[in-house]
Amino acid sequence: MKVFNNKNQLSNCVDKFKTNSKAIGFVPTMGALHDGHLSLVKKGLLENDYIVVSIFINPTQFNNKEDLERYPRTVNRDLALLETVSKSKIIVFIPSIEDIYEDKVSSEAFAFDGLEHEMEGAFRPGHFDGVGTVVKRLLEIVRPDNAYFGEKDFQQLQIIKKMIELHKLTTKIVGCAIYRADDGLAMSSRNERLKPNYRKAAPFIYKTLKDAKKKFGTDSVKEVTEWVENQFKKHELLELEYFLIADIKTLKPVKRKSTKKTYRAFIAAYADDIRLIDNIALN
Ligand code: PAF
Repeated sequence: MKVFNNKNQLSNCVDKFKTNSKAIGFVPTMGALHDGHLSLVKKGLLENDYIVVSIFINPTQFNNKEDLERYPRTVNRDLALLETVSKSKIIVFIPSIEDIYEDKVSSEAFAFDGLEHEMEGAFRPGHFDGVGTVVKRLLEIVRPDNAYFGEKDFQQLQIIKKMIELHKLTTKIVGCAIYRADDGLAMSSRNERLKPNYRKAAPFIYKTLKDAKKKFGTDSVKEVTEWVENQFKKHELLELEYFLIADIKTLKPVKRKSTKKTYRAFIAAYADDIRLIDNIALN
């Protein structure tokens, strides 16, 4: 498996693929790979000749310094996992800070038609400027035909699609269903930091989303929201940061349902000091 540690090497490799009309897929990651990432890579391999997987812990998207410091760093294990998927079709790109940021580690300011102000944007100031900056720079280096993003970070997915549209980029963004552990917990690199009792409790998040979906069929948005908030108030280990039902196009919270719109329910909750997010399609 080829592993490149700087952007010129990667770019030369991409040039060769392009000359030979090879389709390039891209899975950007921050490492600490799990089955969710591998499912993106596998999907990408079905639709492209080669897949570039980047591993880069992007400092500008962390609004909390401790979260950045504690983010798991497991490059050797990540490489071994990727090798189990393919030794010849995966190219790993582990850029340096300078490759992405040159001499100034800061985000560009983006406007994504207001998508950036909702949910994660409201609770994690600057987060989507950091994500937009790194993804745009990675796309410029990798020049993929298709890029794969998981729906666990549904807001991120919508924002990247908006960035492609607004900046007239040519990569096709492919959203992929949330990959879950057998007990329903959405796969996340943060899960491995959960203490055993919190790990055991965490599937409550998805269970509550599924129950909320059932209730959404008959109850009002207000009733569903209050019900979810109460479920979390009664829970001894998990602390709800937000639950909301939003229109998938605007990501704005909904007050009244319309049969013409498509909705998703979103949760962010703390398990100890670890922040978990999840979401579900409602209609
Ligand atoms: O979803 C992630 O892991 C990150 O936000 C991404 C897209 C790799 C950008 O750093």
